[in-house]
Formats: sequence, C-alpha cells, structure tokens
Amino acid sequence: MSLGLACKDVNRLPIKVENVSKSFEGKEVLKNLSLELPDKGIYCLLGASGSGKTTLLRLLAGLDTPDSGHIAGTQGKKISFVFQGDRLLPGSTAFENVAVASSPEAATLWLKRLELSDAADKKPAKLSGGMARRVALARALAFGGDILLLDEPFKGFDSELKKRIMPHIIEFAKTALLILVTHDEQEAAIADTVFTMETLL
Ligand SMILES: Nc1ncnc2c1ncn2[C@@H]1O[C@H](COP(=O)(O)OP(=O)(O)O)[C@@H](O)[C@H]1O
Ligand SMILES: [Mg+2]
Repeated sequence: MSLGLACKDVNRLPIKVENVSKSFEGKEVLKNLSLELPDKGIYCLLGASGSGKTTLLRLLAGLDTPDSGHIAGTQGKKISFVFQGDRLLPGSTAFENVAVASSPEAATLWLKRLELSDAADKKPAKLSGGMARRVALARALAFGGDILLLDEPFKGFDSELKKRIMPHIIEFAKTALLILVTHDEQEAAIADTVFTMETLL
C-alpha cells in the first residue's frame, strides 16, 4: 500500500544524497557527502572553484555515477540543466534555441521575461556573453521540470538585470526544486538553504 502511494507521488519525494564519493584520476572531489534536498524552493551550492559543485550537479542529473554511495529520489523526475557553458546551437536563432526545448509560446514568454525579445532573431555569435547566458537560462526555464540545475547561471549579468530577473526565478521555484550553483554570496542570498562545498586537498 505505501509503495503505491510513494510511486503516485514521485515528484514530492525528497532527494537524498547518501555518502557519495567521487574521484577523478585519483583526486578525491566528493567524500562521503550526504545531503537531503527539498522537493521545491531554491537550494544553493556555494563553493570555490574546484570544490565539486559541477560534479555534484552531474551526479544529480545522472550524467555521471558516484564511485560509492547513492542518490535517491531523482528517478522519474523531469530535470532541466543550465550547463556551465551555454551549449547553444550556433546555426539557430535565440528563439529557435529556446523553442527547440519547449514550444513557440513558452519560448516567446521566457525570452520576454529574460529581456531578450529584441534578440530573438539573432544567432549566438551576434549575442553578448550575458545575452547568450540568458538564452541558455530561458531554454531551461521554458523546458520546465521538477528539478532545475543551474550551474553559475547569472554569469555576465549586471546587478540591476539580476534584480529584475530574480522574481521570475523565485516564482519558478514555488513549484520546482532549483539547485543554484554559485561562488557569489549575494546570489546565494535568494536561496532558502545554502550548502557550502569544501574543497578537498
Ligand atoms: N571529468 C573530469 N576529469 C578529470 N577531472 C575532473 C573531471 N570533472 C571534474 N574534475 C576535477 O574535479 C574537481 C572539481 O571540479 P568541479 O566539479 O568542476 O568543481 P566546481 O564546479 O566546484 O568548480 C576539479 O579539480 C576538476 O578539475
Ligand atoms: Mg563548476
């Protein structure tokens, strides 16, 4: 009986990272990491470069596997990922880059919210670094999902732009879990919970 209930409500299960370790070429990046993540809200991973933030996002997304330990609660959930690099399709316009992951309506809406309506017909090479970053963010938000993994999403944004965009991000997190990776303590201030990653020697 309880199993049936759990399956039905898969999107409301918390995510548990249990004793996860990960090394690359003999260098330990994560060691016995345990975390419990909520099913919605903004959860920030704050830490210096090299502390394993991207590694943890890739493990959560299932793009990589832990050497030991276990991640529970992500199966069956829709995951959207803003990678550390923009990964835009170079031959497609900003609009097409967003619409390919969603619908024309969602692309129009998110390009507008991220103040990119005027750039909709431009290809990535014609966009500034900050604009390209916003296209990558718009694509993930338009795609939607239960979990949104954001790897340094606001790189290249000025503080006024960040202030205008944050309400949309906060609104999104009312119904989904947003995992925000940053090394900026001011950005971390929008999070409900901040977890500081330590760099292992
Ligand atoms: N695929 C990989 N191969 C080798 N080393 C890696 C790989 N991925 C990450 N690392 C190393 O793991 C450490 C943590 O990387 P990363 O998770 O990208 O940290 P952060 O995102 O916090 O800057 C770094 O020293 C990095 O060089
Ligand atoms: Mg990183």
